[in-house]
Amino acid sequence: MTQFNESELTEAVIRSFDDTPNPRAKFLLQELIKSLHDYVSKTGLTFAEWEYAIDFLTRTGQKCTDTRQEFILLSDVLGVSMLVDAVNHRDREGATETTVLGPFYVGEHKVTAHGTDISSNNQTGERMFVQSRVADLKGNPLAGVPVDVWHADDDGFYDSQKPNYDEVGASARARFITDDDGRFFFRTILPCSYPIPTDGPVGEMIVQMRPAHVHFLVNAKGYEPLITHVFIGGDKYLDSDVVFGVKDDLIAKVEPRNDPEMPDGTKTSGRWHLMSYEFHLKPGGGMAPKPLGVKAAEPA
Ligand code: BEZ
Ligand code: FE
Repeated sequence: MTQFNESELTEAVIRSFDDTPNPRAKFLLQELIKSLHDYVSKTGLTFAEWEYAIDFLTRTGQKCTDTRQEFILLSDVLGVSMLVDAVNHRDREGATETTVLGPFYVGEHKVTAHGTDISSNNQTGERMFVQSRVADLKGNPLAGVPVDVWHADDDGFYDSQKPNYDEVGASARARFITDDDGRFFFRTILPCSYPIPTDGPVGEMIVQMRPAHVHFLVNAKGYEPLITHVFIGGDKYLDSDVVFGVKDDLIAKVEPRNDPEMPDGTKTSGRWHLMSYEFHLKPGGGMAPKPLGVKAAEPA
């Protein structure tokens, strides 16, 4: 048959992928066709709307660079990233909750000594000391584990969003290796809540806030890579995160302090904040995500 009505067309397109050699790829493509065709029929999509969608996706692709991923941002605000995360982490068995990677993991994290101030390019924010530990599900320490950390400055931007990133390099972004007791600690500034980037097609579509947080990627051999963030307790956007990434277990009580010394003995003055958080990893494997700006993912 060479001519199809609306419903015959969907069936014909599905059948045209019948010879796809990889069974999983065949399944995914045929289900995608069903959902896309259903959307077009149900909405009675006009030519103008179809053209708008093509233009939007074209601009989304054009906005992507080595350090900017507008498609991930689109997936995030449509809740697709959190849904993929949910279907892949149905049973946590006590392991730390996961959340979206986000578009700012650029994978240039340098191994950094415990206690380092990682916000050296930003001295205006309020000071924060982060003390953390990586353990298995029974609380046994996991030593020698690389932990990537990244967060926004107190102006709400990541280092990689700034025009001088190539010259000044990483700020509020580092990798720590856990010690024999699974611990790592560092100094930084208290991040603030921020809107998603507004200079691209996704930001034109929706502008809403992310509550303040610090990202962590914990990648221990023999354990599932953990992609998560820890949110600053009390942030006013915890209930309205634009990417739906907040989970109760990921909200840390960040305590204001006035002690003249931080926990590692660093002298300080005035108010600072203490974030304490322990990560629990689930046995397993898998690859950590391929960061933007590097060639290959690191094996777990
Ligand atoms: C982030 O937390 O870096 C982020 C995540 C999703 C969308 C935008 C930003
Ligand atoms: Fe973030």
